[in-house]
Amino acid sequence: MCGIVGYTGDAPAAKLLLDGLSRLEYRGYDSAGLCLLNQDFSTVKTVGKVRNLAEKVRDCQVDGLVGIAHTRWATHGAPLEKNAHPHLDDGGRVAVVHNGIIENYMALRSRLEKRGHKFISDTDSEVIPHLIAEFYDDDPVQAVAAALRQLTGTYGVCVLFRDLPGLMIAARSGSPVIVGLGQGSNMAASDVTALITHTRNVIYLNDGELAVITPEKVELRTLANVPIEREISRITWDPDTIGKGGYEHFMIKEIFEQPEALANTIRGRVLPDDGSAKLSGLNMTPREMAMINRIVIPGCGSSLHSGLIGEYYFEDIAGIPAEVEQAAEFRYRNPIIEPNTLVLPISQSGETADTLAAVREAIHKGAVVAAISNVVGSTIARECGRGVYLHAGPEISVASTKAFTCQVAALLLMSLLFGRSRRLSGEDGREIGAEIARLPELVQSVLDEFPTIERIAKKYAAFNDFFFIGRGCLYPVALEGALKLKEVSYVHAEGYHAAELKHGPMSLLGDRVPVIALANRIPGQEKLLGNIEECLARRSPVIAVVSGEDANVAKYTSDIIRVPASSRYAAPITTVVALQIFAYCFARERKCDIDQPRNLAKSVTVE
Ligand code: M6R
Repeated sequence: MCGIVGYTGDAPAAKLLLDGLSRLEYRGYDSAGLCLLNQDFSTVKTVGKVRNLAEKVRDCQVDGLVGIAHTRWATHGAPLEKNAHPHLDDGGRVAVVHNGIIENYMALRSRLEKRGHKFISDTDSEVIPHLIAEFYDDDPVQAVAAALRQLTGTYGVCVLFRDLPGLMIAARSGSPVIVGLGQGSNMAASDVTALITHTRNVIYLNDGELAVITPEKVELRTLANVPIEREISRITWDPDTIGKGGYEHFMIKEIFEQPEALANTIRGRVLPDDGSAKLSGLNMTPREMAMINRIVIPGCGSSLHSGLIGEYYFEDIAGIPAEVEQAAEFRYRNPIIEPNTLVLPISQSGETADTLAAVREAIHKGAVVAAISNVVGSTIARECGRGVYLHAGPEISVASTKAFTCQVAALLLMSLLFGRSRRLSGEDGREIGAEIARLPELVQSVLDEFPTIERIAKKYAAFNDFFFIGRGCLYPVALEGALKLKEVSYVHAEGYHAAELKHGPMSLLGDRVPVIALANRIPGQEKLLGNIEECLARRSPVIAVVSGEDANVAKYTSDIIRVPASSRYAAPITTVVALQIFAYCFARERKCDIDQPRNLAKSVTVE
């Protein structure tokens, strides 16, 4: 799970590659490297982040008009220089950067070693340049295709040949590769963010395809050497949106972008008069929607949590039974897919390997599959062919914030639409539609509470264990709040259904274990107040999130975070924003690396 970028053109490549890599760091950042081609390859590698690599490249004073680069999230082999990419064959003829996992690398490596190849890294990736060199006689494209045909697993690769200056070959199977088309220069990368400052014209490679790239042209072929025609796509979003815009971290920038992001998710999709919604990307008629009698939602991490909120919405608003699946389990448990089952994968990046595998299994089993994704043109979005884009703008911080709330808003829109094709009345639909339209304003009110939330986060900054409790549609928010806190601040945090405490976890409560209670006024709130009493009786300090001026909770604690009063449908969104701010302020107080937490990566493209 890594970021790759390659360039061939008429400008010095090092700066372009380093710039591209810094935008790909969300994919991994434990080591980095680049390889530039002049008469020979010059390779520079470092442990740590791209800024370390930039310093080393400057000190080495290397450059060239062609190059490939890589930022790594270790899967095989520790984050050491010898394991950083690019990898070369032992004759130094072929250089490769790879994102993905080669599952049969041990067998390939031992076969190559028997033929005299010498390996220096512990990675799976190093077999690729060796294999290409083995097949290379005078046709580089055939050599790459032949080598790739030997691989089992996933790859996105960029390949250079020492003796063929100007030529770069990129290919993909299971890991994204996008080709960027410039003037007198072309690039390839794992994500458009690495290309956007160079060009807005891109070509998305599909699995089993390779691109033969020179400064003047790009040709696509299958691994069987059949030429392919592909339309050029135009990136329309603004590259400025991927800078920090004056904020200290991407996470807080993205938290504060939520009113605008939600407005973009909602724009043009609420039909106030009909009390319904319009989601053209779903491409389903009201009759087809009315036929759907079960919804299965696969996802991972925060996307799994938004799916759990969606489950409440679909059942409550549309009366459709819904169930959420950890995407990694989906294909292994032989899921039951009937003709009228809608599978609704959720993935911010649209590249998560487990969710993609679930999508493929669902398609294989004949389900109607529609994706909820943020990244236009991502693999999951393209393979589903229908769905709902969030339009939340690029999310760079590893911790998902705006994508999460926009996913929940998209699920609410979908529930409204499906509800109106079934049991939901126009009047109830109009009420929900009005609440959806109000989401940006409601979230702005939570952002205005930043100073209070920051004060509470600082007060608790020395604690190392937290419980988050909620009921109903706030139970998944408790899970998400705990995930946010542990992800960015490395403290132990658990999310529980409030009723579950007494079945075991309560044994851990005490004065060093604060409980964050989601006590908004939604159905079941009275029971949650009882749960707060149970925690206080075990001496746990309580921080309560409450709706509006609700005075009920003030008698239990003075650490109160107020979110605006709303329906139960908006409450998960307002509440989670408060928890995002809490996690951010807490982590900042503890001086954690907020945007790139240790051991994590933004886009998890390995199983
Ligand atoms: O891109 P995806 O939504 O498929 O990513 C799924 C998870 O990896 C992701 O939500 C992860 O849990 C986030 N880091 C949480 O903040």
